[in-house]
Amino acid sequence: MSVQKEVKIHPYLYNNEWKSSDTGNTVQIISPDDGSVVGEVPAMSQDEVNRAVDKTADVQENWAATDGHERSGLLHKWAEELEKMTDEIGEMIHLEVGKTLSASKSEVKRTAQLIRHTAEEGLRTHGSFIQGDAFPGASKQTKAMVQKVPHGVVLAISPFNYPVNLAASKIAPALITGNTVVFKPATQGAISGLLMIKALVNAGLPEGVVNVVTGRGSVIGDLIVTHPKVNMITFTGGTATGQHIAKKASMIPVVLELGGKDPAIVLEDADLDKAAKEIVSGSLSYSGQRCTAIKRVMVIDKVADELVEKIKANIAKLKVGKSTEDVDITPMIDQKSADYVISLIDDAVEKGATIVTKGIVDGNLLGPTLLDNVTEDMRIAWEEQFGPVLPIMRVSNELEAIDLEKRNEYGLQASIFTKNLEGAFIIADRLDVGTVQVNGKTSRGPDHFPFLGVKNSGQGVQGIGRSIDSMLRDKVLVLNL
Ligand code: NAP
Ligand code: G3P
Repeated sequence: MSVQKEVKIHPYLYNNEWKSSDTGNTVQIISPDDGSVVGEVPAMSQDEVNRAVDKTADVQENWAATDGHERSGLLHKWAEELEKMTDEIGEMIHLEVGKTLSASKSEVKRTAQLIRHTAEEGLRTHGSFIQGDAFPGASKQTKAMVQKVPHGVVLAISPFNYPVNLAASKIAPALITGNTVVFKPATQGAISGLLMIKALVNAGLPEGVVNVVTGRGSVIGDLIVTHPKVNMITFTGGTATGQHIAKKASMIPVVLELGGKDPAIVLEDADLDKAAKEIVSGSLSYSGQRCTAIKRVMVIDKVADELVEKIKANIAKLKVGKSTEDVDITPMIDQKSADYVISLIDDAVEKGATIVTKGIVDGNLLGPTLLDNVTEDMRIAWEEQFGPVLPIMRVSNELEAIDLEKRNEYGLQASIFTKNLEGAFIIADRLDVGTVQVNGKTSRGPDHFPFLGVKNSGQGVQGIGRSIDSMLRDKVLVLNL
């Protein structure tokens, strides 16, 4: 007789107290590996959500009044406390979102580095001093001091695929600049988010400076996004959700990091061994569930057969299995996402795509699928698969690739593989994306580089320095002497 495992409810943080919902309602977090219940978090009521935002607003002025080096000190302590919890938080990321344990622990370590860098970079936000007489008719006696001041209350909403890194990349810049934070973690990944905040409390977080709201985004999302005391929103997640938030949020700055359909453009003179290796790791790590994953390949006809063979050989080396095993491809976040990927493969095959490698299908565990001869009428050529399928589109020249990119609704990143750097720069100039990688896979890091999406991939810029800038606004003090 199987023993029903006690399911733990992980309380949310309110004013440095860990609380359950007075309603007793909770949301379950389901293991992508075996469908078991990993744990539960409170499904907060409207009153509890409003109270959290109110408290965050109440303490903001005091927090903004603390000295910058004190805020920096807290972040350094937070990074230390987080590293102490690497095993605990790594284990929870692994359980909640189906990342291998080593990748989960790397996420925690990467996040501690990000927080440390933010603690230092945040001390270098300076205003400016402007003389009046630079403008005709204005006198030298008119002087402007342009200060950089916090927005106030920042609402930080994170996605499931980096429950710790893509949360701290918002919370750390907000705190170092004197903002207080309402944190809404993705439900799948919420417990990891709460443990990350526990490290911040252990580091000495003052009461009320960060409050967490848990519950399904589809239930409490509009309430927090339209709350009058929220002064800035920083969101990472799907394009549809992002567009919804952009419509709902009014008269406040909104930074959006959304979906992607990053291409790999492979030219005739490319180092095909390197290109194949970069394309496979760039498209299939974490089972393709990365916004920056390579999501379509556009290769010049002349070298297409050779490239496809090399990609096929690299894919054949990948191990597929549960995230508890030492594998490369793990189960997708849920069955709905897996079914969506299968529908894209079926649509492409129906319309004539060639299956080069067919991945296994075992519930939400999909082996990598390589599709060749993908054409524009296939959904996989345009939709964000966010899963382990790689479409190959053959093009006669780079102009055709540029044209396909011009019609891509997304604009996050692109890779160009060629030995001709000048040629790469010319193509890069014609691509409407946030970042162009030359002879390397598309990826966000290192975390101090600007990171942005254009078109349906987002608005605003992240990356440590730019995230800090996004948390501040100008306030001008004019002296009329
Ligand atoms: P998602 O479904 O859009 O959810 C993202 C976050 O938004 C979650 O915390 C979710 O809460 C919350 N949410 C849902 N509905 C909301 C609403 N109406 N108002 C406010 N918040 C709401 O995305 P995901 O499935 O977690 O992540 C995958 C997607 O994110 C992919 O499209 C991927 O490309 C994109 N992504 C982009 C980046 C980037 O940096 N550009 C990075 C990572 C992921 P619940 O979890 O409770 O639903
Ligand atoms: O999807 C998460 C996104 O931010 C990608 O990060 O570092 O895997 O390229 P990275």
